[in-house]
Amino acid sequence: MTNWEELHRRCMSCQKCALADTRTNVVFGKGPKDARVMFIGEGPGENEDLQGEPFVGRGGQLLDEMLSLVGLSREKNFYITNIVKCRPPKNRDPLNTEQDACIGYLWDQMALIRPRIVVCLGRIAAMRLISPSYRITREHGQWMEKDGAYYTAIYHPAALLRDPTKKPDTFADLRSIRSKIREVCPEVYG
Ligand code: URA
Ligand code: SF4
Repeated sequence: MTNWEELHRRCMSCQKCALADTRTNVVFGKGPKDARVMFIGEGPGENEDLQGEPFVGRGGQLLDEMLSLVGLSREKNFYITNIVKCRPPKNRDPLNTEQDACIGYLWDQMALIRPRIVVCLGRIAAMRLISPSYRITREHGQWMEKDGAYYTAIYHPAALLRDPTKKPDTFADLRSIRSKIREVCPEVYG
């Protein structure tokens, strides 16, 4: 079992896949280490690569605004990270080989945090963490229980920026997330 310091050090100097050659910064993750809720995206974009923090661009701003409506903030009560920790060039989807190389860092983060609730942001994260055949349009907002944690997925904030007609569905999913938090880890709102 690893510890945070060692895990962070290994990840920040990682050269396990070709994304190391084009990154500016490794984007490790952000939030309290005792968070009960985790949000997981696919990989850093341009702003994240430049700043070394997950979801800090326009999509991240929208996400923070929406999550604040259900009482969630990365300063206080959720941890946020990605499937791959380095930016794929031109924001293409991370390749399976890159995901395979990187996913161990996420497993270690999850082993250290032991979240009760895991929310995938978009299809790529849901395909990795929920089911390889996951269909975001059909399955967003549904819950699945695995190893003592509850998993769901919502639309990726970039998808909401492209198509705002998806927002009401996402607000419904966020209310469902709030209910699940009240049910399984009410201390989040304590
Ligand atoms: N999109 C993601 O999936 N992750 C980020 O950190 C930023 C944008
Ligand atoms: Fe290492 Fe992950 Fe970055 Fe690839 S994406 S270099 S595996 S930290």
